Amino acid sequence: MCGIVGYIGKQDAISIGLEGLKRLEYRGYDSAGLVGFDSSTKKIFSVRKKGRISNLENALKGNNFQSNSAIFHTRWATHGAPSEKNTHPHHDCKNKIWLAHNGIIENYGLLKEKLKEEGHKFYSETDSEVISHLIEKYFKGNLEQAVIEALKLVKGTYGLAVMSENDPQKIVVARNSSPLLIGLGDNEFIVASDPSAIMGRTKQVIYLDDGEVATLTPTNFYITDLNRNHKEKDIEEIDWKPEEAQKGGFPHFMLKEIFDQPNSITDTLRGRLVLEEGTAKLGGLDEVREKLKDIERLHIIACGTAFFAGLIGEYMIEEYAGIPVEVDLASEFRYKKHILDKKSAVILISQSGETADTLAALREVKQKGVLTLGIVNTVGSSVARETDAGVYNHTGPEMAVASTKAFTSQLTVLALLTLLLGRQRQMSLVQGQRICKELSQIPDFITQVLKENENIKKIAEKYKDYKNFLYIGRKYNFPVAQEGALKLKEISYIHAEGSSAGEMKHGPIALIDENFPTFCIATSDSVYEKMQSNIMEIKARSGKVIALATKGDKRIKEMADDVIYIPKTLEMLTPILSIIPLQLFAYHVAVLKGCDVDKPRNLAKSVTVE
Ligand code: G6P
Repeated sequence: MCGIVGYIGKQDAISIGLEGLKRLEYRGYDSAGLVGFDSSTKKIFSVRKKGRISNLENALKGNNFQSNSAIFHTRWATHGAPSEKNTHPHHDCKNKIWLAHNGIIENYGLLKEKLKEEGHKFYSETDSEVISHLIEKYFKGNLEQAVIEALKLVKGTYGLAVMSENDPQKIVVARNSSPLLIGLGDNEFIVASDPSAIMGRTKQVIYLDDGEVATLTPTNFYITDLNRNHKEKDIEEIDWKPEEAQKGGFPHFMLKEIFDQPNSITDTLRGRLVLEEGTAKLGGLDEVREKLKDIERLHIIACGTAFFAGLIGEYMIEEYAGIPVEVDLASEFRYKKHILDKKSAVILISQSGETADTLAALREVKQKGVLTLGIVNTVGSSVARETDAGVYNHTGPEMAVASTKAFTSQLTVLALLTLLLGRQRQMSLVQGQRICKELSQIPDFITQVLKENENIKKIAEKYKDYKNFLYIGRKYNFPVAQEGALKLKEISYIHAEGSSAGEMKHGPIALIDENFPTFCIATSDSVYEKMQSNIMEIKARSGKVIALATKGDKRIKEMADDVIYIPKTLEMLTPILSIIPLQLFAYHVAVLKGCDVDKPRNLAKSVTVE
């Protein structure tokens, strides 16, 4: 989590860095701070504030700092409460060496004790402060040399940006398992933990790999490993447009991203449907296409919303490609015994491509020599780079912490993958063409679902004060129920549970009374009759029912208290539509309750620590 930005060049580092930092606020918003080198006084200055970046901005009003190099940080607290003293950048005993850190230093306790014995004085509860004292210990006039010496002793994860008053005009950055990239601008360099921070200033980036250290000056940069061996790096191009990181007239990123879904799905599908052959063309899988024909077992690994996408993918792939699929939470997979063989392939799904558990699971799997595939939105991210092959979502940056458009894009990619794998196996041409045709209609169907927004808002007004919600669905819509419940709890802090409707009688129905409403996903599909029975059982216990149904279903109106309609599509594609009303419902409830929709408490967009 945590966001890091660093600027070195000829322009005003403070305004440029703050602009970048604001785009990273979704990574953490417990506190924000900066450190810069003032070219007029030749001294380092720092401002650090608890809370949002706006507090830091206010504190900077009226300052006279003249700075062309500075480091910025927005924090998601791990070690130590969100307070001013724990705010980054952190410094050494003499206030000369300053750094911003994202990650966790696992051996910080031991290092701290040793440094204390050597006379170092600590002021914060953070693990990060330890690194600044370690660098101080090894500093002999050359900052990168001292950073390297210090990092050799550090165990854990870090994205790091360091500067020193005693070796000014330099920013040293390093990475181990926490993302960091260098934007190459016009006579300037911007380092950041996420590409969104550099959007609008440059599209040229270098992604640092683990164990690499880069030294940036206003005119130059060089990258080495921890043994000071020079590293030659490719310059890559980011294809996101700056306007994609703006709210575009919507009050919140989340609403913008929900409404963006007809476009984002169009982008995900672009050039990938091959109607004549009833299959999908996924360029990122070309190299492994033949290998995929021999795969007999698939494992999908992901966290959060991406995990629920994986569960839906399981239904799609098993039903249409006939390959057994196992879906694991990355945090569980990494600690369990895996049964993988040469006929297995592992699919990692991650919007950010930087989720710590997903990345750790990927690295674990790679040691077994199994084919790894990524479904990733962030181009050049760690998962994208470390998997053997993969598919990009091409859905543009997702800024709201609660994932919406990335989820529907993940489902779309999984449907495309199902087409590809299915056509390599048992799926007929006619079946493939049917799925292609239906997929190409999905953006229009989403536009129709979005027309329900006002209706959903009214329903949200009616239900906003309930303290608990149950979400139920079957088959493809069971994970949708779980994702719908996750959306509500994430942003409105209302307790919500997603359950398989078939499991109701094994427990959840005990919760039902007039104060415990249920969202029932009862679309006209192979399990519709079963869902009807569930609704009747809930109504028989005075439970309120909000039903999600297929357009034209009049019967449901007689059973449910409130109904939201979505267009009819293939059962396997229904989740791409059925999740949207649940996203909107969660959004409106959260807004009505006055919650900070885009930045819910205690959460961060990119979970880069375990
Ligand atoms: C966090 C985010 C979720 C996301 C999950 C996995 O919890 O808030 O929106 O689904 O991480 O992230 P990833 O980037 O790996 O998809």
